[in-house]
This record gives sequence, C-alpha cells and structure tokens, in this order.
Amino acid sequence: MAKRQLPNPSELLELMQFKKPELDGRKRRLEGALTIYDLRTIAKRRTPKAAFDYTDGAAEGELSLSRARQAFEDIEFHPDILRPAADVDMSTEILGGPSALPFGIAPTGFTRLMQTEGESAGAAAAAAAGIPFTLSTLGTTSIEDVKKANPDGRNWFQLYVMRDREISYGLVKRAAEAGFDTLQFTVDTPVAGARLRDKRNGFAIPPQLTVGTIVNAIPRPWWWIDFLTTPKLEFASLSTTGGTVGELLNSAMDPTISYDDLDIIRSMWPGKLVVKGVQNIEDSKRLIDQGVDGIILSNHGGRQLDRAPIPFHLLPAVVREVGKDATVMIDTGIMNGADIVASIAMGAKFTLIGRAYLYGLMAGGRQGVDRTISILRTEIERTMKLLGVSSLDELEPRHVTQLARLGPRPLEV
Ligand SMILES: Cc1cc2nc3c(=O)[nH]c(=O)nc-3n(C[C@H](O)[C@H](O)[C@H](O)COP(=O)(O)O)c2cc1C
Repeated sequence: MAKRQLPNPSELLELMQFKKPELDGRKRRLEGALTIYDLRTIAKRRTPKAAFDYTDGAAEGELSLSRARQAFEDIEFHPDILRPAADVDMSTEILGGPSALPFGIAPTGFTRLMQTEGESAGAAAAAAAGIPFTLSTLGTTSIEDVKKANPDGRNWFQLYVMRDREISYGLVKRAAEAGFDTLQFTVDTPVAGARLRDKRNGFAIPPQLTVGTIVNAIPRPWWWIDFLTTPKLEFASLSTTGGTVGELLNSAMDPTISYDDLDIIRSMWPGKLVVKGVQNIEDSKRLIDQGVDGIILSNHGGRQLDRAPIPFHLLPAVVREVGKDATVMIDTGIMNGADIVASIAMGAKFTLIGRAYLYGLMAGGRQGVDRTISILRTEIERTMKLLGVSSLDELEPRHVTQLARLGPRPLEV
C-alpha cells in the first residue's frame, strides 16, 4: 500500500505553471507542426483545392511519388554506440560553395499561386538558413527579385530549354548577370506529365471562378484576399500565360532537346552546370564523362513519367559507377531529415526538397518555410547523433540498409 499524505500546496503550485498562450495565430499554428506531414495538413486546410492538388499531386497514378516516399520509409539505420556526437556539423561544400545544411530548395513553378509570398519567401528563408535556393524557369518571381530576397546567399537557376531557344538563352544570360552560381538543366520533361488531379479540377492559370472554386474558397478567405490584393500572377521571366498547366508546359518544353543543347548551354554559362532528372546509370556516366559539374537523380517528384525508377534506389549503383568524387545529388520523396541523412550515407553529395518547402509555404508563407527548414534541421541533427556520427563525411553506406519491397522478378522461373 502506498503511503499517503495531504497535498502540499507549494508542490501543487509548481504543477500549475501554465504556459502563456501564443496569440500570434500563424506562429501558434506553425509551432504545432512537428513534421513535414503536419505542415501538409495545415497547407491543405488553407489552400484552395486546385492549388493544393497542383502541388501535392503527381502524374497519372502517382506511383513514382508514393514509391519514392515508401523507399525512404523502408530504410533500416545502423547506429554505432558509445561514440560521442554531442555536437554535429551539418554543413557541407557543394558546387564550389558552402551550404549550412545538406539540402537546398528545388525549383518549382507557379510558386506564388500556392501562397502569395512565393519564391521571395523561399529565397529569404534559404538566405537565413545558409542554404541554396533554386528559381524555376516557370517561376512567378523574377530573377532580379529573387536576388533581392537572397542578396548574399547562393541562388541557382533551373532552365527549361524551350522551343524558342532565344527565350532560354536570354534567361541564362540574366541569371548569370544576377550572380546566380549554378544552372540546373532539367531534362525529364520532353512533354508534360499527365497530372490528372489538375485535369479533374479544371486547374488553369489564372484560376477560373466556377461554382466549385467559390464553394471551396469560403473556408479559405485569406488565400483569396492575398490573391486578389497582390500583383497579378504570371511567369516573371516568360511572356506566355493563359491555358491549362499542361498546355503551358507543352508550349515551354521541347521534345527535341539533346546533348547538343547541353554543349550550347555549357558554352554560355559561366558558373556550375548540373543536369536535373537523370534516371539511369549509363546517362549518369556519360554526363560525368562529358564534364558536367554534377547530376541530380530525380524523377521530378513523380510529376513526369509515372512508375519511373526510384532515385534513392538508383543512388548506390550510380555512385559506384561514376565514383565517389563526382557530384551526385538527389531529390523526390524527401519528407524527413532522416531521408536526407540516408541519401548522404548512400553517397549523395546534396539533396533538394520540393514539396516539403511548398507545404511550409502554404502553411505560413516565409515563416512556414523557416519551419520546414527547422523541422528538417532538427531531424538531421537528431538522426546523426543517434547514429553516432558528428559530421556528414562520417556517414557511410554501412549506416543504411535499403529494405526491398519491390524487386525485379527473376528472368528465369
Ligand atoms: C509544384 C511543383 C512544381 C515544380 N516545378 C518544377 C519546375 O518548374 N522545374 C523543375 O525542374 N522541377 C520542378 N519541380 C520538381 C522539383 O524541382 C523536384 O524535382 C521535386 O519536387 C522533388 O520531389 P519532392 O517534391 O518529393 O521533394 C516541381 C515540383 C513541384 C512539386
């Protein structure tokens, strides 16, 4: 039987330390988000369906995306014990410059549609965190305005080589003049992927008002107030606007791009040149042999070819083939700092986040992107400490097993 006593008032008082309520709604909301999936839930609540689905969705059955996320979940980590890792260094060198964390922000089009602060919020948050920001060719903030939002940090530019080559070349020149240090040449979009959610939602730029969109707008007044009281949504660097997203993409993309275009861009661009959207070992080898500064293993976040290879699964074989010194980067499916740690352990030099950044943006503008970065930073740091490593170079393939859920069927049965 436990011994009992009368409650001691001073002990009771100690228990009654109520936290001061957070009156700033945005801050309260964001602090309550502990994971990127929590930010996604807030984003979904606050953003009109068509804009949320454009961001969250992928191509056709969305299998490329769900498999990529599943592959990260199917990691087994192998920690070392009794190895002091009180302080961890998460910084790295990438493409000739520093990054405070092993990830940067991936290029995304139409970003001001998701939340009105758009690319400026992403660039400013990247500046504050000391990581690179990438502006898309289909961005809704100009090259020069991104430079203003991130004047001292690293800006990268993503290039679509369009049918009208002169437009693309003009962008390359402007990005170089604005001091962008790296160009990502995206090669996985000869045509637009089939984004069925967009088709079903009748998603168009600018958004069309229908009975459905109006009903959907009622619980999301702030998005609409922002949308209607800020400069018109348009591509900041292109003159094409209007039409469905698929039509816009198809007019921007060119199914005839080839290695010749790579040579032309190489000759025009003074900074680092990387190719984004590489999906097999042979192409990786060819590109590195031709002297590109880096490759990004990516299937465009599952938005192009559905059932494309899982970049995280491709990673070890590509690194083995091109060698440890080549700059191999990866994106698609990253939703947790542990995914980033696992990618670095398997040989990636750097990672990029697309939706994880956009969920933060939709959940709370600039502060929401800060929250995304802070969640990932905390997860990376904790995972490294739990693994017993204190710097990124100490991460090795032996720290991770990729558990196989789907494997190729044996040829002979
Ligand atoms: C809404 C959205 C727009 C995108 N727009 C572009 C783009 O304009 N150019 C590009 O190269 N990639 C684009 N991407 C692909 C991202 O750069 C990146 O490869 C992808 O988001 C990574 O997957 P994740 O979202 O799972 O992190 C876009 C992705 C999303 C989600």
